[in-house]
Amino acid sequence: MLGYPFRPLLQAVEAKGGEAAVAEAKRRAGVPPDRVYRMSEIYADEECQRLLAAAGEVLGLGVEDTCDLWAEAFLKDTQKRFPAWYEMCADARALLECHPEIHYGFAASLDDPKASKAITDKFRIEKRERELIVHYRSPNRLCFLYRALARRVIAHYGDEASVEEPRCLHRGDDECEFRIRWAS
Ligand code: HEM
Repeated sequence: MLGYPFRPLLQAVEAKGGEAAVAEAKRRAGVPPDRVYRMSEIYADEECQRLLAAAGEVLGLGVEDTCDLWAEAFLKDTQKRFPAWYEMCADARALLECHPEIHYGFAASLDDPKASKAITDKFRIEKRERELIVHYRSPNRLCFLYRALARRVIAHYGDEASVEEPRCLHRGDDECEFRIRWAS
């Protein structure tokens, strides 16, 4: 996984538990204490999974609540660093529709075609009237993060939409399927 999402995860840990919590989460995850995640560098997926688990342990939170804090820091960071995406998208549907393309931009910047494909293969979106069906497949199984981000994007634009996940990697399905439905 690219280094970018690791950064808001650690920011969230720091905001809640301070520098000591970050150091402890890194230690528990077996991450070198001086690791600074680079936005466009690839890190092992297992490192992301270990760091998420360690962040939850250190903060005393379950994975869902940890992902919610992560999503809050993640979206804040994207709004600061990449405001053009938010300006271009008039509503939540527009941003959620183009989110795989945002990721493709990062994938395109990589020299390694295998690493690039690992990013582009994760999400596929079907566009229906008043509904998006998002297919997600990833060794990181970050559906809690996806749902928390989608809900926050919907709230950011003041839209009214529900997010459901009828199929889930954690429940033994071969992918997570999110159904995002707008009332009107
Ligand atoms: C400007 C906005 C955004 C930026 C710059 C951004 C950037 C990124 C980057 C660079 C990654 C790492 C990609 C990889 O290595 O596979 C990532 C992962 C991810 N993003 Fe985004 N993203 C944005 C918006 C969103 C939104 C709106 C959602 C969900 C509604 C989302 C959901 C995710 C998830 C779930 C992952 C983890 C994928 C995995 O490894 O399984 N992102 N994002």
